[in-house]
Amino acid sequence: MKYFLTGATGFVGSWVADQLVKQGEEVHCLVRKTSNLRWLKDLPVHYHYGSLSEPESLEEGIAGADYVLHIAGVTKALSTDEFYKGNVQATGNILEVIKAVNPQVKRVVHVSSQAAQGPSPSADPLPEDAPMQPITDYGRSKLQAEEVVREFWDDLPITILRPPAVYGHRDSDVFEVFKNIKNGLNLKVGKVDQYVSIIHVFDLARGIILAAQHRNGAGEIYNICNPEACAWSSVIEILQRQMNKKVLNIPIPYPVAYLFGGLMEVGAHITGKPTILNRQKIKEVNNPFWVISPRKIKDQLGFETELSIEEGLRSTLEWYREQGWL
Ligand SMILES: NC(=O)c1ccc[n+]([C@@H]2O[C@H](COP(=O)([O-])OP(=O)(O)OC[C@H]3O[C@@H](n4cnc5c(N)ncnc54)[C@H](OP(=O)(O)O)[C@@H]3O)[C@@H](O)[C@H]2O)c1
Repeated sequence: MKYFLTGATGFVGSWVADQLVKQGEEVHCLVRKTSNLRWLKDLPVHYHYGSLSEPESLEEGIAGADYVLHIAGVTKALSTDEFYKGNVQATGNILEVIKAVNPQVKRVVHVSSQAAQGPSPSADPLPEDAPMQPITDYGRSKLQAEEVVREFWDDLPITILRPPAVYGHRDSDVFEVFKNIKNGLNLKVGKVDQYVSIIHVFDLARGIILAAQHRNGAGEIYNICNPEACAWSSVIEILQRQMNKKVLNIPIPYPVAYLFGGLMEVGAHITGKPTILNRQKIKEVNNPFWVISPRKIKDQLGFETELSIEEGLRSTLEWYREQGWL
């Protein structure tokens, strides 16, 4: 079967490409002239040069694809407009092209985010149909992208997946936590010990492929995460044990962290490189609960994660070490 992937040069998409190749599928990837091909270069995949901002560049790759996996997204940006273009307009563009050149497509999977729904009011895992209350520009753009997807639900068989924070091999964001622990530090913003849902990238990649291949799920939204949420302090404890390292806990008062986020933004504007450590991130971190329920995807598609949090962290740590990142 022919799969057309967006975002295959990124963290999540590269593992989807990898797993599809292992399944013997024909994998076609949208890449930009500026894309770094380091995660794809050893895979037998086809490149289609183009951009989600240039719809005509998508036509050739999408025509004749059995499945389209729209994984690309903008997770860090210098402005609200960049989030809008990269998440909302980009989603509209690709869906218009699919509708025009390949309305017979078997399934389109759209990767959204827990950020579209926002934090949860308590430790009770939120279902997909809970109120949508994003608190960041990123989250609002992912919600708007979902709204665009819904406009195409009558025309195309689209499944939306909402992962929470994704960690694992090749990730450079949660990696900062591993690095701090190696350096004997745990920087903790505010007084909150966050209780969060997470997922390892291998499980997410499997879930994206399953959502495409499953006969059910068109016109549905699914949370996808480990069944057990975890306190962030327990992640730190597990990592300390696995790295055989004791850390110095450094509490950073919320206003100080917020100010620091602002300074990082100024730096990002000067260098032109967006940073994940910004004021909106600090706002996210200050919310105690980010917990979603994966019950629906288990009940309807039979999806379950394979890696426990402990195993996922261990194999990620091993990978960072092998790569010389740690
Ligand atoms: N990582 C997480 O914790 C997390 C959590 C929840 C949801 N998600 C969602 O998962 C998806 C993948 O995230 P990720 O962490 O893998 O991000 P990533 O590593 O930053 O990769 C983003 C990908 O999107 C591509 N892209 C962005 N704008 C594009 C455009 N205009 N045209 C073509 N390609 C474009 C990038 O291409 P280039 O290589 O050319 O830049 C890259 O391949 C996103 O939709 C994100 O919102 C991620």
